Amino acid sequence: MTSLVVHTFLLSLLAAGALSYEINTYNPDYGVYVGDLSSPESDVSGQVFIVNATTLQIFNLTFTPSQQDLYFWLDTKETPTKEGIKAHTYEYGITPLGPFPEENDRVVVHVPEKLRLDDFKSFSIYSFKTDKNFGSLVFPENMKIPKSVSLNSEFTGKRYKLRSGPLYVIDRRTIKVYGFTFEGNKAPKTYFYAGRGASVSYSSGVKVAIRGKDEKEISEISENYRGGKDIILELPENYDIFHIDWISVYCYKYRVNFGSVVVPTDDTLANLPPYVPSIKRNDEEKPMSRGVLKGSAERRNFTFQIGHIEHIKNYNGNLRSPKYVWHVNSVMSPDLYLMRNVTYNFNVEGGRDKMFPDFYNPLYIGDDEDGGYSELSQNEAEKVTIYSPGPVDNNTGPLCLWMHNQDKTANEPKTYLECDGWPEDVHSFAFTPNETTPSVLYYNSGNNFNMGGRIFIVDELPEDVADSAEVPYNREKWHTLALSRQRADKVNGAKTTIAAAFMVILTIVLC
Ligand SMILES: *[C@@H]1O[C@H](CO)[C@@H](O)[C@H](O)[C@H]1NC(C)=O
Ligand SMILES: *[C@@H]1O[C@H](CO)[C@@H](O)[C@H](O)[C@H]1NC(C)=O
Ligand SMILES: *[C@@H]1O[C@H](CO)[C@@H](O)[C@H](O)[C@H]1NC(C)=O
Ligand SMILES: *[C@@H]1O[C@H](CO)[C@@H](O)[C@H](O)[C@H]1NC(C)=O
Ligand SMILES: *[C@@H]1O[C@H](CO)[C@@H](O)[C@H](O)[C@H]1NC(C)=O
Ligand SMILES: *[C@@H]1O[C@H](CO)[C@@H](O)[C@H](O)[C@H]1NC(C)=O
Repeated sequence: MTSLVVHTFLLSLLAAGALSYEINTYNPDYGVYVGDLSSPESDVSGQVFIVNATTLQIFNLTFTPSQQDLYFWLDTKETPTKEGIKAHTYEYGITPLGPFPEENDRVVVHVPEKLRLDDFKSFSIYSFKTDKNFGSLVFPENMKIPKSVSLNSEFTGKRYKLRSGPLYVIDRRTIKVYGFTFEGNKAPKTYFYAGRGASVSYSSGVKVAIRGKDEKEISEISENYRGGKDIILELPENYDIFHIDWISVYCYKYRVNFGSVVVPTDDTLANLPPYVPSIKRNDEEKPMSRGVLKGSAERRNFTFQIGHIEHIKNYNGNLRSPKYVWHVNSVMSPDLYLMRNVTYNFNVEGGRDKMFPDFYNPLYIGDDEDGGYSELSQNEAEKVTIYSPGPVDNNTGPLCLWMHNQDKTANEPKTYLECDGWPEDVHSFAFTPNETTPSVLYYNSGNNFNMGGRIFIVDELPEDVADSAEVPYNREKWHTLALSRQRADKVNGAKTTIAAAFMVILTIVLC
């Protein structure tokens, strides 16, 4: 009898644990809870909280990307449809979702520019191509949205020209100070200082970091702030705006309050966004620097082939690295400098086999940095202007692949070229930038994201930018893959496209 009672009690505890957040209720640590991402058909789960009008965050997300085209998705319908739009993450931008690093305790999701979460009805993980829902939730009616708060108080003091515009509480631990003015270069050992109690005191305070200046440790203010810029204060861990009564510009040396602001105790701050740590890149994650090709009188032709980048660390500096990237005249995804009123030839050899998405790469020039034009939702595609001629899908050619020479001996080149197709299949188009062409464009693949690089449109080529060395290549291996495909065709007759394609892959792997 007792054990039954205990058992029931435990069961109800478990149930309470699973539902410990109430829908549309504010939680100061996480934001407003709007539900769990879940679906009977997939193993997706996670608790979703609204941070502010343009951001939400998911905790304890379990998600194994089971296919290539999954996205976080916002929709005006209660379930995801093709009319919805992608939501972005730091890790993947607008590109398809892959696995998130295990050490991430949260995934932060952003709404595209000019839109707000309350423009939508549902949030999901969605496959765009197969129109399949991998887990979703419907936003509650009258969804509460945490809001940053402007305080009506400013810093002002008699010494060292201390002044500021109003303070803006972005979230629980982040405070913006508009137009900060202070002769930090003259003031002795001064810090931003925050603490509890009716008045500013040395013993009840703690130093506060300035974003951008105090990333590793908090140092005294030594800059002469002239009011021309805003600064952002970050309260230390374990502190937040609800647990301080004042913020001071405080002289540590002589224990003097140069000027302070009182934090309101009424419910003005009741609905503040939770603190979301910003992702700090360390130096190792910085993207690698790109090569350069200038469109000089000797270089009017650019040949676009692809290359594997598995052996390259930090290609993009984040998880968004693609498998292959464009190589232009043998140089890996360089910046191109092209002159106005000059016609350049673009030769395309990025593969045209639709069956293998990695090897189907139409080349296009556009003002979109990430590429993947045919993978964009209608809403996203409308924002892109294309500068290459014809429909994006038309600019495809045979496959030429730069391979990394893994077991290279001293006098062999680091890379070599493999091609599958016939030289007469190479597709070319002309591109002539003119007065109206924007000064920065991008070359990309219509079918895969992040394969390209920048194109700077200039009136004169820059002299202070050095050209990268082109790697000479010969076309001896031009036919190898095509011939193996032909052989396979002969052996198995007409139904061998798949087998032949596998031969291609195999040949590439074996090479
Ligand atoms: C995520 O899971 C951990 C471990 O089960 C738990 O402690 C934490 O509270 C969960 N986070 C949220 C926001 O529920
Ligand atoms: C919402 O919160 C995120 C994360 O803290 C922040 O990056 C973004 O600027 C905020 N947006 C607004 C409109 O305050
Ligand atoms: C560019 O290629 C064309 C043939 O496609 C050739 O006639 C021309 O000489 C080349 N120009 C340069 C500068 O190499
Ligand atoms: C694009 O390719 C299709 C199919 O090969 C062809 O019919 C069409 O004329 C091409 N369009 C342009 C503008 O080149
Ligand atoms: C400049 O190029 C665009 C195509 O990108 C074309 O539509 C426009 O007519 C050109 N302008 C001039 C002045 O040639
Ligand atoms: C390009 O041509 C236009 C019209 O022919 C001319 O006005 C412009 O100055 C030229 N620009 C350059 C950089 O040569």
